[in-house]
Amino acid sequence: MSKTEETKAILNLTNTALISIFFILVLGGVIIFALALNYENLTKISSHKAAEFPVEMESNKILEQRDYFSRDFDVSKLGNTIQDSMIKYGHELITNTSKLIGPSNGNSSKQFAGNNLECKNCHLEAGTKPFSAPYVGIYGRFPQYRGRENKVGSLEERVNGCMERSMNGKKLPENGKEMRAIVAYMNWLSKEIPTGEKIEGTGFKPIKIPQRKVSLENGKSLYAQKCSSCHNQDGTGTKNPDGNYAFPPIAGKDSYNQGAGMHRVLTSAQFIKYNMPLGATVQNPILTDEEAYDIAGFINTLERPGKKNTKKDFPDLKRKPISTPYGPWVDNFPPEQHKFGPYQEIIEWYKTEFNLEKNK
Ligand code: HEC
Ligand code: HEC
Repeated sequence: MSKTEETKAILNLTNTALISIFFILVLGGVIIFALALNYENLTKISSHKAAEFPVEMESNKILEQRDYFSRDFDVSKLGNTIQDSMIKYGHELITNTSKLIGPSNGNSSKQFAGNNLECKNCHLEAGTKPFSAPYVGIYGRFPQYRGRENKVGSLEERVNGCMERSMNGKKLPENGKEMRAIVAYMNWLSKEIPTGEKIEGTGFKPIKIPQRKVSLENGKSLYAQKCSSCHNQDGTGTKNPDGNYAFPPIAGKDSYNQGAGMHRVLTSAQFIKYNMPLGATVQNPILTDEEAYDIAGFINTLERPGKKNTKKDFPDLKRKPISTPYGPWVDNFPPEQHKFGPYQEIIEWYKTEFNLEKNK
């Protein structure tokens, strides 16, 4: 190779190297740019998710909160200490209520529930499903102010609220083994959750309330299409050959009474929208808000046990949920409107009059 040829070759090599470096830089730039874009999208998605689950807390806390429901709630993994046995008995009472303390237990001294529902029929997955009035996190939220009694009530009193209404029965003795077991189970479900904290997934998720009265006709036909296969045409549920319910009654003498929260159109619509037909969740609801509202209204026209002393409910009438279907109310809206809406006027009235935000 001559000297010039050598220099040429060197120059060629340098050129190739320079061109390669140039391309590497451009490529790198493109990759960094793409990553940046993607990052922006990722943060957009996460802030969008946060907005779907509004909680008044910093975003990192919301993530922590969701994890509260992903814990292992399998009680069969517990040991045999006195405490663990109480927790397991509490779980048993929530899932087999009718057999243990209901009409079908054959022991009249242990009959407290008046119907054959199980607590877990409404508190799904034994109280561990978000937005199905779960028991996860409940222990540290009590004692709590309750509008129905206008006083600060204990968790035991709240359980007895469901005993007298949802279960159409009588109160469990507060120091009896059954109540202590139920509370032990709720305490176990709530461990690690700071006292007083209301976690995401608590209670029910509000629906957007339609700006109209319930359509009973629409509710009736939707019920026939989407609910009656399990809950029966007349709402009395479906039994297994052994006499236990395969699908619980939503009406009739074996169902919740007229004083129950589920007998309020708005509460019932919130439950139905995110839990029924069986399999619906907040991530994957099946019905629209309008459908849940109409079906809830229709269910409220079916017969069910009455509740004594409803006049004594809600000593502070402002606190009474607006869709409570029985009076007295502090407002002058007709009973029919409390029962079936439309609710916007009523909601506005409470907002102007008492600065109260009502959604059920
Ligand atoms: C027919 C449905 C139904 C059944 C059955 C039922 N509950 Fe409830 N329960 C509800 C509804 C609805 C609420 C919420 C009421 C409201 O929002 O005003 C509730 C609320 C509660 C709460 C308070 C939840 C919270 O987040 O503050 C507890 C505790 C409770 N129930 C315990 C029980 C126990 C224990 C049983 C069985 C002995 C039971 N429930 C059976 C419907 C039911
Ligand atoms: C595939 C069967 C199935 C269908 C369809 C279904 N449910 Fe249910 N439903 C259940 C079961 C099972 C439970 C009890 C859940 C549990 O114990 O885990 C339940 C519980 C309920 C409860 C609370 C318990 C009670 O008896 O009051 C209500 C209210 C309810 N369903 C309403 C509806 C409505 C309204 C529809 C139609 C939109 C519907 N369900 C469709 C199976 C079904």
